[in-house]
Amino acid sequence: MIGHEDLAVRTLGPCRIDSPLAERLAARETTQHSVQEGDRVLFDDTLSMAGARDVPVGELPSLEPGGPRQRIYFDPAKTRVGIVTCGGLCPGLNDVIRGLVLELCRHYGVRRIVGFRNGYRGFIPRYGEDVVDLSPDVVQHIDDEGGTILGTSRGMQDPEEIVDALERLAINILFVIGGDGTIRGAMEVVRVVQERGLKIAVVGVPKTIDNDIPYIDQSFGFQTAMSEATKSIHAASVEARSAPGGVGLVKLMGRHSGFIACYSTLAKDDADYVLIPEVPFALHGEGGFLEHLRRRVEDRGHAVVVVAEGAGQEHIEEHEPGRDASGNVRLGDIGRLMRRLISEHLDKAGVENNVRYFDPSYAIRSVPANPYDSAYCLRLAHAAVHAAMAGRTEVIVARRRRRFVHIPMALAVSRRNHVDPLGDLWMSVLEATGQPVRFG
Ligand code: F6P
Repeated sequence: MIGHEDLAVRTLGPCRIDSPLAERLAARETTQHSVQEGDRVLFDDTLSMAGARDVPVGELPSLEPGGPRQRIYFDPAKTRVGIVTCGGLCPGLNDVIRGLVLELCRHYGVRRIVGFRNGYRGFIPRYGEDVVDLSPDVVQHIDDEGGTILGTSRGMQDPEEIVDALERLAINILFVIGGDGTIRGAMEVVRVVQERGLKIAVVGVPKTIDNDIPYIDQSFGFQTAMSEATKSIHAASVEARSAPGGVGLVKLMGRHSGFIACYSTLAKDDADYVLIPEVPFALHGEGGFLEHLRRRVEDRGHAVVVVAEGAGQEHIEEHEPGRDASGNVRLGDIGRLMRRLISEHLDKAGVENNVRYFDPSYAIRSVPANPYDSAYCLRLAHAAVHAAMAGRTEVIVARRRRRFVHIPMALAVSRRNHVDPLGDLWMSVLEATGQPVRFG
């Protein structure tokens, strides 16, 4: 059970400098918009969870809220900031970079900001990556494009060498934008920073289209990616309805979590089956997926199947094992396997079929953020800057139950967010598709 100690946020030291931002807020008579000491955000979701702890209200575990502080740790005029983006692409990376730079420059008056190129390797001399000076002019329109102007790469580098680079460039604050592997890497950086007795804040902005970071409402870019995915589901549906025995099969990203598959299916409400990593399924036999699909095609003449890339891995016999540079297990290709098995099964049963396979792959994550994600990215960037300027370190900023909060990095990587097979999202999917609770 999560307790106070898991939610405690590390700070570099007492905040002794008046924040320029808080001054401006005070001038507008909106001081209540700067975060007050003791104004904590309850961790528990429900009354029964809080009640089960059997402690007085004041002792319930709570999260530190995000937002501007009246007093800050770093002197903006002397502060030098680094930004790095790591891991796979995600809509909104450029929005976050832009938001960080604009907030630092315009509101805090920080003038020296550099971007490290191509993920953690950007710190390592042997890769010969240059650093990029970031100013409001440089970032002004970068949010119009997908990707990241800084480039990205997977995998951690030697944290000692990373901290050497931070020291060489006199960086006081490092913003890392990335997923769980990146956050783990950032924790290694913090460890070395501490060992060397340095005062460098490391603040993360969590990123993944898979939406699998725990304890947060949603990760940025997820909404854009799932909106893009709906295009393929729509196309699959059109194809399926336009051919005798049409089967539209769509494979979507989602390594361990089927959020993209679930939400994009609900958004289109065109699919008959959704297969996700969290819900194992049998392929063969009377109650198996293939027989169910055969009956569906025979009854209605067509069907649409959405499969998350991490689903049904137990059915893939031949695939190259191993891990990628981020340490993720390499997945077998469930989409191609399903395409083959569906055709074979329907052929064998004498059912005329036309299987159309869609794999939008990277196309769902290389696009610019939609307006919702852009707004979210900007607000995350603001929260990250406030946290770092106040000397918070080893935290990610995130939105939890519609409040911006600071979550210790260790907690953010302690588990993964999954679609709950007994939860209301999956129930909605079952209702929308009409597929059985289980195949087998
Ligand atoms: O983790 C996000 C993600 O988009 C996954 O859904 C997908 O499996 C993975 O990245 C693929 O990324 P890459 O091919 O860049 O390693």
